[in-house]
Amino acid sequence: MKRLEGKSALITGSARGIGRGFAEAYVREGAIVAIADINLDAAKETAAEIGDAAYAIQIDVSNQDSIDAAIAAVVAKAGKLDILINNAALFDAAETVDITRASYDKLYAVNVGGTLFTMQAAARQMIKQGHGGKIINMASQAGRRGESLVLVYCSTKAAVISMTQSAGLNLIKHGINVNAIAPGVVDGEHWAHVDTMFATLEGKKPGQKKAEVAAGVPAGRFATPDDLTGMAIFLASSEADYILSQTYNVDGGQWMS
Ligand SMILES: NC(=O)c1ccc[n+]([C@@H]2O[C@H](COP(=O)([O-])OP(=O)(O)OC[C@H]3O[C@@H](n4cnc5c(N)ncnc54)[C@H](O)[C@@H]3O)[C@@H](O)[C@H]2O)c1
Repeated sequence: MKRLEGKSALITGSARGIGRGFAEAYVREGAIVAIADINLDAAKETAAEIGDAAYAIQIDVSNQDSIDAAIAAVVAKAGKLDILINNAALFDAAETVDITRASYDKLYAVNVGGTLFTMQAAARQMIKQGHGGKIINMASQAGRRGESLVLVYCSTKAAVISMTQSAGLNLIKHGINVNAIAPGVVDGEHWAHVDTMFATLEGKKPGQKKAEVAAGVPAGRFATPDDLTGMAIFLASSEADYILSQTYNVDGGQWMS
């Protein structure tokens, strides 16, 4: 039996990368999925490639009107919202003395404010429907400890872990389970960008940082988005009804090492 049959899911930042992998997996499990991204053209392309159970909507998670419009679009299309994955996020890296207010403001607006206020809007809708729901926030191993050149991003992901704890405790009375996933390193366009940044900051050759990082993962390689989908399906399913406020590492052993 499909584990998300008939469920309506909204996945932010799902035009590419991990979010796209989640969308494909949810559709395979019977859900109808909003491919919600700031890049509407990319979202449309992705939805068309996934098939009829996926549809594209635009969302800028740092803008309240855009969040509200996206929730309304999901309800108009699917009649309800059962599952939210707060997946959209931005990355930046810099020496502590070089961090700019612009970078700080942008990352906090998307990674922290975007997660909080999309979660809030989804929860309001789920409460109105009266049947509970599932919210999954994307944290990171970066939220569990600092990294020398990654102060802002790491702190936004620590905030995601903390917000997941509080919101989970607060929303369970409505039957809404809030949990999070903390990946280690996941291959894709995001990491191509990270590798380029570290090449500049640490004077490394292109691809060198990625190779060094992969060698340090106990599982011996980067994750693919497919490595994360089992946890995302489980947390969205009724099997997770008694689980809340948790952040699960899916990281090939990286945090434990
Ligand atoms: N890739 C990794 O190694 C890794 C590791 C740990 C955690 N994560 C987390 O997993 C999630 C997905 O990562 P990814 O590697 O697939 O990222 P990605 O950069 O490949 O994709 C992010 C998507 O979010 C969209 N987006 C950006 N700003 C947005 C906004 N304001 N509103 C809506 N959409 C917006 C982008 O257009 C893009 O499609 C993020 O939360 C990231 O922090 C990733």
